[in-house]
Amino acid sequence: MVRQAGHVIVVGNEKGGSGKSTTAFHLAVYLLYEGHKVASIDVDSRQQTLTHYVRNRRDWARQHGLGVPHTTHFHLPLARGDSLRENNRLEFDLFRQAIAEVEQSADFIVVDTPGFDTNLTRLAHSLADTLVSPVNDSLIDLNVMAQVDPVTGEPRELSHYARLVQRARSERLSIDGRTIDWVLVRNRIAMLSSRNMRQVQTMLDRIAMRLGCRVADGIAERVIFRSLFPMGMTVFDPLNEDMLGGVPSMSHTSARQEYRTLVGALNLPTSLRAQARREVLEAGQGKTNQFVHMAPTER
Ligand SMILES: Nc1ncnc2c1ncn2[C@@H]1O[C@H](COP(=O)(O)OP(=O)(O)OP(=O)(O)O)[C@@H](O)[C@H]1O
Ligand SMILES: [Mg+2]
Repeated sequence: MVRQAGHVIVVGNEKGGSGKSTTAFHLAVYLLYEGHKVASIDVDSRQQTLTHYVRNRRDWARQHGLGVPHTTHFHLPLARGDSLRENNRLEFDLFRQAIAEVEQSADFIVVDTPGFDTNLTRLAHSLADTLVSPVNDSLIDLNVMAQVDPVTGEPRELSHYARLVQRARSERLSIDGRTIDWVLVRNRIAMLSSRNMRQVQTMLDRIAMRLGCRVADGIAERVIFRSLFPMGMTVFDPLNEDMLGGVPSMSHTSARQEYRTLVGALNLPTSLRAQARREVLEAGQGKTNQFVHMAPTER
């Protein structure tokens, strides 16, 4: 499948619960507030966490008259036919349709993938312009990228997931001569510095070198990421005290800053059209003065 436009950001890692859906949703909403047209695609047809995020957001915004921006969202219903092959084909077709529908109109297409290998996971990876892999801040989770020699500390053997990405990269190169910018992001970083934390950082840097990818500054462990899910909100939205169960804290400001830094590190393309849309959004946001302004466009 050769694409013409729309920068595809795939969020993937075979480790379950590493923060893929949370990251995908936050990146998508951040880009919306930056004035981009964003489509989101949920390839995880079993859990559909991203789809639930999107639905919660729409419902919450409607019920509370909130003028927050939304993505154009696609989800792939779980194919339940008897034939595995037929189910795969159905999901594949739906995914292809979704991409075809938005590739010309969306500036960004954010794809959330499941924590396991499927045909669709592989296809999504080979379409990525940017691949973001959140990695939990633990040595065990690094094993999902590469096995590390216990004596020398050198990455020894690439994991199944790393090989999947390698294949996607070479496939992509042979199709349109482009490469996938792969970025590892430490997630749920503990607030207090520890020996384990430093070990993870060192190991991650080594693994990244071996995998030919980059490491971005990470996102800390913060309760707010869990509490915003039922409302479909992100740390970039205008949040009031009712939504937060208290006044917005420094932790929220720091969370926004971390994401801002992360997006900066991703080196995503931007456009003058997006800049103009951002200004319109900012002007609209000013009107919702009953909310604490927490849009990402604050500079
Ligand atoms: N930075 C963070 N701080 C605190 N909690 C977080 C953070 N990031 C994610 N979480 C929480 O971790 C859990 C797993 O996150 P999420 O569902 O995004 O992971 P996932 O990789 O998509 O999981 P799966 O592999 O099952 O699809 C959720 O409860 C989420 O709210
Ligand atoms: Mg998920």
